[in-house]
Amino acid sequence: MNNTTDTSNLLHTSWLWFARNLTNNTSFSAYFEPIVQLLLPQWRADRFRSKVIDVRRESADMYSLVIKPNKHWQGFTAGQYIELTVEKDGAWVSRFFSISSSPEYYEKSGLIEISIRIQENGQITPWLPQALKSGGVINLSQANGDFCLDEVSKPILMIAGGSGITPFRSMLQQIAQSGQAVTKPVSLMYYARSTEHFLFREELKKFEQQAPNLTVHFIDTSDIGFFSDAHLLTYCEDFNSRDIYICGPGPMILHARKVLQQQGVNGDQIHYEFFGPEPVSLEGSEKASSVLFQQSGKQVTAEKGETKTLLTLAEEAELKPVTGCRIGVCHQCICQKKSGVVYNSKTKTYSDTGQEDIQLCVSVPVADVVLAL
Ligand code: FES
Repeated sequence: MNNTTDTSNLLHTSWLWFARNLTNNTSFSAYFEPIVQLLLPQWRADRFRSKVIDVRRESADMYSLVIKPNKHWQGFTAGQYIELTVEKDGAWVSRFFSISSSPEYYEKSGLIEISIRIQENGQITPWLPQALKSGGVINLSQANGDFCLDEVSKPILMIAGGSGITPFRSMLQQIAQSGQAVTKPVSLMYYARSTEHFLFREELKKFEQQAPNLTVHFIDTSDIGFFSDAHLLTYCEDFNSRDIYICGPGPMILHARKVLQQQGVNGDQIHYEFFGPEPVSLEGSEKASSVLFQQSGKQVTAEKGETKTLLTLAEEAELKPVTGCRIGVCHQCICQKKSGVVYNSKTKTYSDTGQEDIQLCVSVPVADVVLAL
């Protein structure tokens, strides 16, 4: 260790000691957080102002943001996600995105990439590319998530659907660029609804050449249909001896998990990541339920067996409740339920029938519901 490192470690330790003793917190920012939040409710000590360096179009409905994270940001493992917060029309909005580039790329360039599908009728994803042209500023959280691959110590099968390729791009870029000799086989089964919908196609083929044990299968569902046991046997015969990672739309994950379990794959071999809340299948929803939005006077019917969240139902009724992450994390969509029963797909619990606060984005009506909205 050299003198400069010694001095900076000493300064850092003294600063922490000073903060701890003066404020009873591990940092000054944690101490001041509640005070600053009185003026800026969305301000958080664990957000890192970061610069957008480039906005790159990947396909007709997909783009990547190239971001230079703030120097206090602590890096990530391939497959993890970040929460991105931006200001839109005077309000702070947050969304979660997988990092699509590798830790190796971050180490060499100081940059990360996130790749985003434009949601039809979405508030944020169609707006971001214009708003964040080169030089835009966003707030990043630290990276999070257990759906990650640090090193390849076992044979791996990856199953991606549509934009669910993004965490796998990070993992495969890491394998290809880090120069680590991968001795175990790694296979990717990548599903898309047509040839034009495969993202990073050329790059994935290049990774295949760089890492001899890597095999990539591009599977066009318009040709041969969706994931099945026959596909498993065709593309990865020894699937039963591999760790299996699945990422894509909710119904695809549920289906793939079911097929794998029917084929005798152990639950602890299967890792998966939902984009958004886990889809629910409610045994008790044999009847249609009505949802009354009391303040606006609007009423809608959730059809029998339908599992749309209250947020979706409200937006379909042209209401504009406050939202943030839309996956049950930020609590911005909390609304008072006056009566009725809802199922929370995040906590996997049913509510009581009485008055209580619920999160619209992860709550599905089970019986007639009245909301103060
Ligand atoms: S919008 Fe974030 S919890 Fe519902």
